[in-house]
Amino acid sequence: MNDAALNDFTLSLDRQHVFHSWSVQGSLAPLVIAGGKGCRLWDYAGREYLDFSSQLVNTNIGHQHPKVIAAIQAQAETLATVAPAHANLSRGEAAQRILSHAPSGFEKVFFTNAGADANENAIRMARAVTGRDKILSAYRSYHGSTGAAIAATGDPRRVPNEFSRGHAHFFNPFLYRSDFWAKDEAQECERALAHLKRVIECEGAGSIAAILLESIPGTAGVLVPPKGYLEGVRRLADQHGILVIFDEVMAGFGRTGRWFAFEHSAARPDLIVFAKGVNSGYVPAGGVVISETISRHFDERMFFGGLTYSGHPLAMAAIVATLDAMAEEGVVENADHIGNGVLATGLSRLAEKHAIVGETRGLGVFHALELVSDAETRAPLPAAEMATIKRALIDRGVLPFVVENRIHVVPPCIVSEAEVEEGLAALDAVLGEASSRLV
Ligand SMILES: Cc1ncc(COP(=O)(O)O)c(C=O)c1O
Repeated sequence: MNDAALNDFTLSLDRQHVFHSWSVQGSLAPLVIAGGKGCRLWDYAGREYLDFSSQLVNTNIGHQHPKVIAAIQAQAETLATVAPAHANLSRGEAAQRILSHAPSGFEKVFFTNAGADANENAIRMARAVTGRDKILSAYRSYHGSTGAAIAATGDPRRVPNEFSRGHAHFFNPFLYRSDFWAKDEAQECERALAHLKRVIECEGAGSIAAILLESIPGTAGVLVPPKGYLEGVRRLADQHGILVIFDEVMAGFGRTGRWFAFEHSAARPDLIVFAKGVNSGYVPAGGVVISETISRHFDERMFFGGLTYSGHPLAMAAIVATLDAMAEEGVVENADHIGNGVLATGLSRLAEKHAIVGETRGLGVFHALELVSDAETRAPLPAAEMATIKRALIDRGVLPFVVENRIHVVPPCIVSEAEVEEGLAALDAVLGEASSRLV
């Protein structure tokens, strides 16, 4: 079969037999991806794409990192699978590596298969420890697509899936589309905290097990919280014996230029939920980093939870190799340097040049361009126009992460200055074309 035929065959197999996530199945036309390296992907016919999506914002270390691939191969030769009840070297080392990047006061790691079930288990732990039921989470959030995780999610994908009990939501800060009529970050912060205080009172402080919050809400639009917000949430929680869970699934492991996104604040949670960047998704894995206090609780009491593949050795070997390579190669520093330097500056330039960019925001290699059809009213750019923009970027060889009226600019943490410039040039051209269509 020649290369073009292989592309067609792959696509036809997919369309006949593969059922896709979050999709109306009949109208799909997925891009064929055959291979990748670093920040690049390609199809069988040799057409290349610069990955400005990190897939689903998970390939922090880039594609096909040789040390991670070698570690997975070596582990596969030694022991490809083992039950979670056994002690296994790669699992112990993975937990140790993760804890070495966590703040002091964290003691153990519970491993899951991905981010959603990590949130499920963090919620389960919070309920078990506090003896309370309710979980508060933000409307502008995504926590995964399983039972409690999707019920905790704020975005509209929650609504057809609300079968889990004990969830209530609150508005988190987002100055550009403020729910609090705020004029600046300080006001947004103060009012968002006053609102959360009222929600806690109304839901019954004594019935709330935990506040679950993305340190920087990602899918909801890369909403960097105002200074003092996370600290304020922590304070409110402490006043009422409520636990704090930070969901670092998307923002963690280097994406913001720190190992964990909450490190941009002084707030520290009781449980840290992770997945994606921990091993860049080379083998599915997620988990919960558990504070000493919560860990001790379960020294004397049963933990009612478990998964056949908890701490799967291939995933664990990938975690050890990923975190070691990230530390040795300065990957987090690169995300900080490039992301807060040439990328942030370039995006600000685009916002100044193109009126359809209502706002650019973010930290490290975690940014979003908010596109609007009217700078005054901030009306979101319509879905059809966003689809045209996405297609145009792909045609120019840049793979974007488009959500609603936003382009999330989220390349791997290893991205180079030259690759950022290349992506920015494509964005510039495509935003220019979109602007001229709108006049
Ligand atoms: C913040 C956050 N939490 C949880 C999840 C769910 O993770 P997974 O898809 O691995 O279950 C995601 C996925 O995008 C996420 O962004």
